[in-house]
Amino acid sequence: MTETKAIQAIKAIRGRLLSFVAEPAGPGDTSSYRLIEDGLVVVRDGRITEVGEAADLLRGLPEGTPVDHHPNGLITPGLIDTHIHFPQTQVIASYGAQLLEWLNKYTFVEEQRFADAGHAERNATFFLDELLRNGTTTAVVYATVHPGSVDAFFAESERRGTAMIAGKVMMDRNAPPGLRDTPRSGHDESLDLIGRWHGKGRQRYAVTPRFAITSTEEQLEAAGALVREVEGVYMQTHLSENLREIETVRGLFPDARHYTDVYDRYGLLGERSLFGHCIHLEEDEVRRLSESRSVAVFCPTSNLFIGSGLFDLDRLSRGAAPVRVSLATDVGGGTSYSMLRTAAEGYKVLQLGGQNLPALAAFHMMTRGNALSLGMGDEIGVIEPGRFADLVVLDSRATPAMAHRMETIDGDLDEELFVLMTLGDDRAVAATYVQGRLAWERG
Ligand code: GUN
Ligand code: FE
Repeated sequence: MTETKAIQAIKAIRGRLLSFVAEPAGPGDTSSYRLIEDGLVVVRDGRITEVGEAADLLRGLPEGTPVDHHPNGLITPGLIDTHIHFPQTQVIASYGAQLLEWLNKYTFVEEQRFADAGHAERNATFFLDELLRNGTTTAVVYATVHPGSVDAFFAESERRGTAMIAGKVMMDRNAPPGLRDTPRSGHDESLDLIGRWHGKGRQRYAVTPRFAITSTEEQLEAAGALVREVEGVYMQTHLSENLREIETVRGLFPDARHYTDVYDRYGLLGERSLFGHCIHLEEDEVRRLSESRSVAVFCPTSNLFIGSGLFDLDRLSRGAAPVRVSLATDVGGGTSYSMLRTAAEGYKVLQLGGQNLPALAAFHMMTRGNALSLGMGDEIGVIEPGRFADLVVLDSRATPAMAHRMETIDGDLDEELFVLMTLGDDRAVAATYVQGRLAWERG
């Protein structure tokens, strides 16, 4: 691939560019973004070096610089998914169960197959193909309990040059024997994986105790030790998704003040900690998540599909103790790999609670907002010099229904983005770039 590399050393991508500079205050907040109708992104060795009007920048490019022109494309930063399970590509769309039954009946059965390295490798390939087809260039990923599943995933991501965060699930109880580790082995295997992958290229590690039900106190203690000991690792788990889950946690940890306190006691809260779901929280839990700068991860398609409940964005992000919130698919509890579809379902979940999700806010969340949730605002999430050229080219007229609806929209960006998120999905992703290299192209 050295030849491709040399050719790719400098290149440019041309089209309509959209990148956020601040969190939108509401619909129509034109100060929150920068839109260049005929823009150019210049990429050198995978990073963006210049962004501006194509007319200005094209003249300064060295002779022969390849330019990928997307005249009908809306180019945004690559989409970011902050919670997804790579071993659940064959769990997605499993019928008729709520969380605990769903885990036992479908998920734990499927995850056992990842003891086989070949199976893990095939699934890692499928999974990353599918993310890129959907315009997602960075994700925060649960593997299985098997260290080999993490190796398979990171090896595939590293090969593609994507920035991924992932970790081995830690589970030492309430799971089938084939999916259990121990406090010691879970700790040591995680540490081993951290040594192998954390900071290798664009890969980063997330310490991943699945949730309080499947970890003993000793294991949560070990997870906390890893978070304390290793600079820059993330922590991911599930919190307050389902009422029976919460009741079970109460029984398992009778001394804890509430579910969040179970994690708090072991030092698992913090600004690199991502808590999936956060639906049924008490006030004191919201306060602790806020104080600790932890991130609550909104997974709308999953919450609807598993029947878990309605995420309360206003309460979390606009209360007296605001909590950082990110957006995610949670495949395979979630039903779509598409962040566009996920935003659309997020809008509906909020509507059911009398709330709203303006299109600008949704696109901000999928890009700059999620990047900031990961502390990665200086690498991804915006189209600015210095950032990696992870980009997605969106097509607002991808389907007949979208093209037809777009006929009524006369240059209003809010409306166009709302059509894109409400009617769009993988079909609306015309191309995906990773470090400036074309990683997926439609058709
Ligand atoms: N809680 C614990 N494990 C899981 C999982 O795999 N998916 C979801 N949605 N919730 C969980
Ligand atoms: Fe999940």
